[in-house]
Amino acid sequence: MFWIIGVILFGVLCAGYLWRSNRNLPPGPWGVPIFGYLPWLNPTEPYKTLTALASKYGPIYSIQMGKHFAVVMSDPTLVRMALARNELADRTNFEVVNEIMQEHGLIFTHGPLWKEQRKFVCNWLKVIGVTKFGDKKNNLQLLIADAVSTTISKLRQSNNRPIDTGTFFLVHIGDFINLIVLGKAWPEDDPNWIYLRNLAEDGSKKFAIATPLSVLPILKIIPKYRNTVFEVIEGVKNTHLIYKTLMEKRGNEIHESDDLMAMFMKEMTKRKNDKDSHYFTEKQCCFLLSDLFGAGVETTVNTLRWFLLYMALNQEIQNDLQKLLDSACTDGGLIGLEQIESIPLLKACVSETMRLRPVAPSGIPRSVNTEITISGYRIPKGTMVLPLQWAMHHDEKYWTDPETFRPKRFLDDEGNMINHKAFMPFQAGKRACVGDTLSYWILYLFGANIIHNFNVSAEQGLSEKEINTIMDGEFGITLSPATHKVVFKSRI
Ligand code: HEM
Repeated sequence: MFWIIGVILFGVLCAGYLWRSNRNLPPGPWGVPIFGYLPWLNPTEPYKTLTALASKYGPIYSIQMGKHFAVVMSDPTLVRMALARNELADRTNFEVVNEIMQEHGLIFTHGPLWKEQRKFVCNWLKVIGVTKFGDKKNNLQLLIADAVSTTISKLRQSNNRPIDTGTFFLVHIGDFINLIVLGKAWPEDDPNWIYLRNLAEDGSKKFAIATPLSVLPILKIIPKYRNTVFEVIEGVKNTHLIYKTLMEKRGNEIHESDDLMAMFMKEMTKRKNDKDSHYFTEKQCCFLLSDLFGAGVETTVNTLRWFLLYMALNQEIQNDLQKLLDSACTDGGLIGLEQIESIPLLKACVSETMRLRPVAPSGIPRSVNTEITISGYRIPKGTMVLPLQWAMHHDEKYWTDPETFRPKRFLDDEGNMINHKAFMPFQAGKRACVGDTLSYWILYLFGANIIHNFNVSAEQGLSEKEINTIMDGEFGITLSPATHKVVFKSRI
């Protein structure tokens, strides 16, 4: 009996191998009908299974994930070259995402809509001050500094009580993102703001439940999945109602404002009688606003939380950083971006955090819009391409002792920051993150001033196992630390 099963399995594997090589597809593991390789993917840490497969099949391999044929890349040069190509400027068409986003917004759009809206958002970022220098940059820095000041006084009030950093930073970084996106920061207890924060906290869990649907849409017949999608759609509708009410309340004041909502409303008016097709509609405005809020908050909050955890677990590095911050801050005020330029160790700590715990460890997928050849392999139209950040960021070829938090690997002998080719938290090319510079500013300003003002430590009494669980993280929309608390003890 067993030898018959063995022969069948061997036959299936050979057939898979021949099928792949005949079609000149990248090598890869063979899966089962309908599910492909899904049954063997670690459901909580899929990026680790994908990384193990890269060691076996090489820097470019193919894998069937439910209904999607995917190519996984983990060689930095290959990834940069591939992501720069126009044929890879699209996102994968996931039915469940289309159902929720209705092909609006920016992150999941394609073609002319994506081009127009990305250009608009990049221009908006310049208008609010994401530039190399100038008054606008200073004003934007002041806005972030305001949020940092509030954060510091709230942390002082904690009186050494451990704080849940997830809920806490969602409020304070969220306030800043609301200001630039909606032109408004709500009081912490405003019902609308509480609703949006709950939605953001819940969103990651719902996303984790709904993820299998993106590769196996048939699962929607199961009530658990159907209900989750329904709840997400309800959340989107309610969020848009809040945005629309805000839009209605805004009058002439939008002409003096440069938040994203105001800029979009002005563009809508300007293009009212436009004969060319464009996408400046109220519906697009709502989806764009929620895209920018989502992309801006979840990523920076979780990176800051990881940074604080690494500081808490590496007290010597934290002390070194504090000495440098003390000497940079001579006037007792907040440390600004200019002073941070003279503290490369701070930047290196942030980069090392993003290397070890990238918020998108599996990479944000792209889709191939026209058949192409990469590394001699045929990549058919519609293939999902995963730039596997986890593999690149943990590869011994590029990083000595890759699992260790060692920020100095980002510094040269003179102490200047090094650009590592295998470091790609924002990915690269035509669709790379538009918020990279702004993210660094938020992380540097929050990170530097918190470490300057407080000794940061983990909650007392945690066992090694509990710390490992926190540091393994939870993978939803992003990779976040498992729920934990941190102690902030005033030092100045
Ligand atoms: C630590 C912070 C952040 C990380 C690690 C991060 C990472 C990423 C990654 C990996 C992508 C996919 C890029 C690609 O397909 O090549 C992306 C896309 C995007 N990010 Fe970020 N991001 C961060 C913060 C932000 C912020 C603060 C904003 C907005 C102000 C933002 C806005 C966007 C947008 C709009 C896209 C979609 C771009 C497109 O599809 O054209 N991100 N981000």
